[in-house]
Amino acid sequence: MTSERTGQFLLNAEDLPEGAFREAQAERDGQPLWLVLTRQQGTPRAWLNVCPHAGRSLNYAPDRFLVDGEGRLVCAAHGAVFEPLDGKCVGGPCRGDRLRAVPIAEADDGIHLQPEG
Ligand code: FES
Repeated sequence: MTSERTGQFLLNAEDLPEGAFREAQAERDGQPLWLVLTRQQGTPRAWLNVCPHAGRSLNYAPDRFLVDGEGRLVCAAHGAVFEPLDGKCVGGPCRGDRLRAVPIAEADDGIHLQPEG
C-alpha cells in the first residue's frame, strides 16, 4: 500500500517492538530494496540490509537476525557488530563503517518508507 502521505508500507507497527530487528522488502525505481528495521528508544529506524564489509545480507535466515547481549545487530556472515541507534560498525571486519540509513516513518499503525531526502 502506498500513498503520497505515508509512503510505501513496510510492516505493521505492532510487529516492530522495542529492540526487535525485522526484515522488510520495498521497491525503489523498480528495484527491490531489502531493509532491516528496528525500534530503538521508541523510534523506528531502517537500513539497507547490506553489510558494508562484503555486501552480504545481515540475517542468517529470512527475517532472522543475530543480536548480541547488548542488543546490537551482528552480521551473520563474518560477525561485524552494529550499534542499533546509528548503524555504526563497532566491531569486526568493517569497524568504523556504517549501515546505510533509509528514511522511514510511523503512521496509521504502520511503518512506511519515505522518499530519500
Ligand atoms: S559480510 Fe558482514 S561481516 Fe562480512
